[in-house]
Amino acid sequence: MCARKSPRIMVTGAAGQIGSELTLALRGRYGNENVVATGHKTKPSPKLRDSGPFEFIDVTRRESIEAVVDKFNVDTIYHLAAILSAVGEEKPHLAWDVNMNGLYNILEVARERQGVRVFCPSSIAAFGPETPRENTPQETVLRPKTMYGVTKVAGELLCDYYFHRYGLDVRGVRYPGILSSETPPGGGTTDYACEIFYEAIKHKRYTCFVREDTVLPMMYMPDCIRGAIELMEADLSQLKHHADFNLAAMSFSAGELAAEIKKHIPELICEYEPDFRQQIADSWPRSIDDSAAREEWGWKPQYGLEAMVTDMLENLRK
Ligand SMILES: NC(=O)c1ccc[n+]([C@@H]2O[C@H](COP(=O)([O-])OP(=O)(O)OC[C@H]3O[C@@H](n4cnc5c(N)ncnc54)[C@H](O)[C@@H]3O)[C@@H](O)[C@H]2O)c1
Repeated sequence: MCARKSPRIMVTGAAGQIGSELTLALRGRYGNENVVATGHKTKPSPKLRDSGPFEFIDVTRRESIEAVVDKFNVDTIYHLAAILSAVGEEKPHLAWDVNMNGLYNILEVARERQGVRVFCPSSIAAFGPETPRENTPQETVLRPKTMYGVTKVAGELLCDYYFHRYGLDVRGVRYPGILSSETPPGGGTTDYACEIFYEAIKHKRYTCFVREDTVLPMMYMPDCIRGAIELMEADLSQLKHHADFNLAAMSFSAGELAAEIKKHIPELICEYEPDFRQQIADSWPRSIDDSAAREEWGWKPQYGLEAMVTDMLENLRK
């Protein structure tokens, strides 16, 4: 019996919130030398830089992607480089350039080399105010009002186009807000749900930029990483969807999160001063129906609010 060949992976946006942890998980699973991390301006942590190959690329420059893919004989790309929702509203041109032209370059590099597989996350930002907000269906209205959301919908469609037109194996999920303790989030609307932990430990006080009753779907990083890897390892013949799987784990309001943290840090004072991000949050779903992901590749989240808060605080206190 011959052993299954390990994939040769490139991660873009590897120094970001998801990339920094996903890269280490991929290295643990497939071998350090088989996973090349690529960063842009964000400085990589020593752990990321020293545990395997690290290169700098700009995804808006196709030749810089090609150089790394060819140098390392890459056959799988986890494409995480992006401009997120809040930064995207401040810099819409940059968001379009990185999220659309960057993705187009990645897909073209993969297509030209044939057999290169791609993972590219979408987001709940693909939905908009006209989308049903409770238990948002897989197939629904996609009319986002942010530049980030526009690029996510167009990105899903582009990925699916490459699958149907060129047979490119490209897969993706619509992540909810991701909570993690390793790398701070990079300018999204759900950042408050991470920031409150840091501030609760450091200052026992947090001013939240959305209203107390704002409910959004969220996911803890271990589930986020497992979801990406499990989808990429799923049997292609079982997939009816490709780049747009709804994915869910938990939903809670900003107030419920503060109350759960208070069980561990009773002195915490949380105040609410909504800013421009409130409007973005109000245009997103409150909960997500992820039955397609469950049926087609066996998705099942492991963390709910209580377990996530306990684990986050434990990790951050270390
Ligand atoms: N974090 C979340 O809550 C969340 C939720 C839904 C979807 N997503 C998606 O997951 C992916 C990763 O998100 P994240 O939270 O890790 O983002 P992040 O902002 O933390 O990291 C993105 C990385 O992209 C890099 N980058 C920016 N411009 C680049 C360029 N021109 N070339 C190469 N790299 C560039 C940045 O340096 C940064 O390190 C994105 O596609 C994002 O839309 C994230």
